[in-house]
Order: sequence, then structure tokens, then C-alpha cells
Amino acid sequence: MDFVGLIDWYEVAHRELPWRETQDPYRIWLSEVILQQTRVAQGWAYYTRFVDRFPTVRELAAAEEDEVLKLWQGLGYYSRARNLHAAAKQVEERYGGLFPTTYEEVRGLRGVGDYTAAAIVSFAVDAPYAVVDGNVYRVLSRVLDVETPIDSTAGKREFTVAAEDLLAEYLALPGNRGAGIYNQAMMELGALVCTPRGAQCEACPLRGNCLARQHATVEERPVKRGKTTQKPRYFNYLHIVDRFGRTVIRRRDGEDIWRGLYEFPLIETSVEAEFETLAIPVSGWVWEGAVRMPKHVLSHRVIHATFHRLTVADLSRMVLPEGWMVVPTEKLGEYAVARLTELYLERA
Ligand code: ADE
Repeated sequence: MDFVGLIDWYEVAHRELPWRETQDPYRIWLSEVILQQTRVAQGWAYYTRFVDRFPTVRELAAAEEDEVLKLWQGLGYYSRARNLHAAAKQVEERYGGLFPTTYEEVRGLRGVGDYTAAAIVSFAVDAPYAVVDGNVYRVLSRVLDVETPIDSTAGKREFTVAAEDLLAEYLALPGNRGAGIYNQAMMELGALVCTPRGAQCEACPLRGNCLARQHATVEERPVKRGKTTQKPRYFNYLHIVDRFGRTVIRRRDGEDIWRGLYEFPLIETSVEAEFETLAIPVSGWVWEGAVRMPKHVLSHRVIHATFHRLTVADLSRMVLPEGWMVVPTEKLGEYAVARLTELYLERA
């Protein structure tokens, strides 16, 4: 394998990103958690916001969960934000606020899997752990022309072993530059050159090693076994407003999606429902109309949402179901809401 060519390519071609300027494991961890959720361009803005507000893990640990969720808003998959907060507290409790740098300690933090742990300890202190993310899966599947599906147990094992072997081979070279830059280079190659479609093989430092290129299978790699099916859910939201510019929201709880986020009162139905069939839990409303949202696709769900706008006279004088909170409409922006609600508010 042309490791020298790979590292030389990285030195010239890599993007300068804020989390590559630091060896601080806390900041590297933040960037990795954010980048699992979004692309670099958008992740950059979130990273900057988090680092500005929480320059160290101690400040993140001391924050209110609502504030963390609010900063996370728009990234989706809010359990990641809750895990982020919980892990910061673990660092505070277990390590006195000093972010750890051994694989086992980092892997033991909430929400940190094999990939993230390897990324943090290799980028921060060059610990010899290979990262295997989507980009690396693709690079390896092509360079080694692997037919095993990447979303199978056998595939995961095969790719992990291959990645570890290659890293060990690199680290055995005299004059090697350490695990961190090697891992970054493999990921960057997948991000910039060895892309899902339209791979730029002429620009690739590993083109002389690439078996998929020799076998003309680049476009067929990586192999995936199949997509998971997405169950439909039907959300009927009640956007209730009164004459004093107030509205009603509630905080989601329980084990369902979007725990801890705020939204309008919700009636979930098992099929698409007409407004007339919904049991509205307050009286004295006038139905003003509905906004049917485009289907909203999450990782395992498709949400079909309709927002019904109802007006009432005076929310402060009504008996409301438990958990409903009356808030001034102009304060809505202070509450963390799911992307779906955000999209509705942008329209409304
Ligand atoms: N995606 C995940 N981690 C990344 C990193 N460190 N740099 C660029 N993209 C990434």
C-alpha cells in the first residue's frame, strides 16, 4: 500500500477544519459527535457555537439540559445531545473534568462507540486505533475489493480487522507520522476523492493499489445488504392560539423520539385522520385551518404530520390538560423543538 503517497496527498489536499487545529480531546469529541449527525459545512457552525458557549467539558457538564438541546436544535436525533451532556457529567465525576485519552476510558463514556473512541484517542494522542466510519468502509471496500456487505455482522468484523491490519502496517514503517494523521487521511480520502458516486480515481494516491479499480467494480462498492423499512406514524398537532398572542406547548417525555423537546399538543393516530375525528381535549375552539406537512423521514420512521390551527378566547382562563404550558408566541423560539416543528413554524 502506498502509505507515503496517502499521507503526502493528505498534506496537500485536506480541508482545514477547526477541530483539526486542536489536540484537545474534549473538542475532538464534540466535533465527532456533531459530525455523526451532519455534514462538515453545517457541523462547523454547530461546533463553533458549542465551543464558544462551552469552552471546556466542565462548562458543558454544568449546563442545563434545555440549553444543550437548544444548541443542538436542527441536528436531529436528540438522544445524541442528551448523551453528550451525560458524558460531560461523567468526565466531571470520574476524571475531575479532565477529558480522558485512553481508549477504554473514552469508550466508557455515554454515547461513545468504537468509531468515536478510536477517532478521539488517535487524533488527540496518536493512540494506535483504526477508525472505521462510512468513508473508511468505502475506501477499504474498494482498495481491497470486498464483496461482504458493510451492514452485516461478518462485514463489520472483516472491515475492522482490515483497518487494524493496515494501520499496524503503516505504524511499522520507519518515519511513520502516527495513527492520527493516518486515520484523518483515510477519512479525508473517502470524503473528497473516493466518493459514493463519481469517484475521482485519477486523483487518488491509492489508485495503484486499488483492486476495485483493476476489476472495474468501484461503482459497485461498498455492497449493502438492504435498507431497513420505515414505519409510518401520523401526528396531528394542535396549534392553539388565543386573542392575547399566547400559544400552548408541551415537553415530550417517555421513551419515544424527541424526548425533552417541546412541541404543540399532539394527537397521534394509527392512520391519516380527518380533523373531525380527533378528540380535542379542550372546548371553545374555532378551527382555522390545517397545514399538512410533506412526509418527514427519520432513520426508522416516516412521520405524516398535520398542524391544525385553533383559536380560543383566553388560554389563561381555561382548564388545560396536565403538562400543557401557555407561552407567549414570541417566546416560542426559546424552546428546543424538533426539526419538524421548526419547518412548520417557518411556514406559519
Ligand atoms: N467526519 C467525521 N469526523 C470528521 C473529521 N474529523 N473531519 C472531517 N469529517 C469528519
